[in-house]
Amino acid sequence: MAEEVKKRVFSGVQPTGKVTLGNYLGAIRNWKPLQDNYDCLFCVVDLHSLTVSQVPAELRKNTLDLTALYIACGIDPDKSILFIQSHVHEHAELAWILDTVAYVGELNRMTQFKDKSRRHADNINMGLMNYPVLMASDILLYQAEYIPVGKDQVQHVELTRDIAERFNARYSETFVVPQCLLNKAGSSIKSLQDPSAKMSKSDVNDNAIVTLSDEPDVIRRKLRRAVTDSDSDAHCVRHSADKPGVSNLLNIYSLCSGESVAEAERRFEGKGYGVFKDAVADSIIAVLEPIQAEQKRLLADKGYLEAVLKSGAEKASRIAQKTLTKVYRKVGLVPQIR
Ligand code: TYM
Repeated sequence: MAEEVKKRVFSGVQPTGKVTLGNYLGAIRNWKPLQDNYDCLFCVVDLHSLTVSQVPAELRKNTLDLTALYIACGIDPDKSILFIQSHVHEHAELAWILDTVAYVGELNRMTQFKDKSRRHADNINMGLMNYPVLMASDILLYQAEYIPVGKDQVQHVELTRDIAERFNARYSETFVVPQCLLNKAGSSIKSLQDPSAKMSKSDVNDNAIVTLSDEPDVIRRKLRRAVTDSDSDAHCVRHSADKPGVSNLLNIYSLCSGESVAEAERRFEGKGYGVFKDAVADSIIAVLEPIQAEQKRLLADKGYLEAVLKSGAEKASRIAQKTLTKVYRKVGLVPQIR
């Protein structure tokens, strides 16, 4: 019997600053179980990071840290292709072609572009605006069907779909049109200091985020300071729209402990916020400690990480080259004689 062709999954995280619990619960954690049923590619998207100013040495360090983190979170380089975006030059090349298909108007409307332009008013570079086209290129280059991301990336995946459909209509069927895979409960983890905003790597308030490298006592302190809700039910641990702070903590607790939200509500009934917050902190620590230990072990084995990245880039390049050659042909570029 012919071997079944698995559908493809692609996702990535920027090696910018410290990876947060939001990145983990909304994206990275959901990748591991996909590896058995899909052909997976997980990429450290370093080119995307350049859209905000970086210290070169830090970017290099963050890129290797993130590679080790992927593996520590369960990405198995024997099952999935793990690689660094800039090691496969086709990403930037396809982005140029897709630039000729994407419209300035639609890029101008992207929420993240508007948001980052506000926050980096002194550096609204073309790359910042072009960011979603490079992301479309990442996805379309591998003909990926499913994109496991958090809610904030849905708009970018939708733009990718539009670009793919437009290209297919203009030049004939070329790209698989991808779709998001969202893990509902974890898709939008909120700031600990302002539950109306997402938990974001770039938050200037360190107390608003839990990073994957935070030590246990730091996590406990941040959770104790987390904003809860001041309503008449001040000590009732309940998931509801009028209690966004507590609901966010309940979501985090449920995702980290494996208990359902309803079970957790029963467990903390009448116990008060202090006990609840300590339990949330403990549930996070229990998840992060083994990951941190494994990441540290991997970072001490540079040779292994380099071998994984070399092999990942080779495998990714083979797929990428095939797609780019097809795209160049479709748009009318003369093939190079070799
Ligand atoms: P980045 O690095 O900003 O985020 C990485 C992933 O984390 C998710 N995420 C969250 N999920 C839940 N709650 C939060 N508070 C939270 N904050 C972030 C993001 O949705 C994302 O899945 N543009 C992408 C990187 C990228 C990419 C790609 C992803 C580049 N090319 C191709 C998929 C496919 C990004 O947001 O990275």
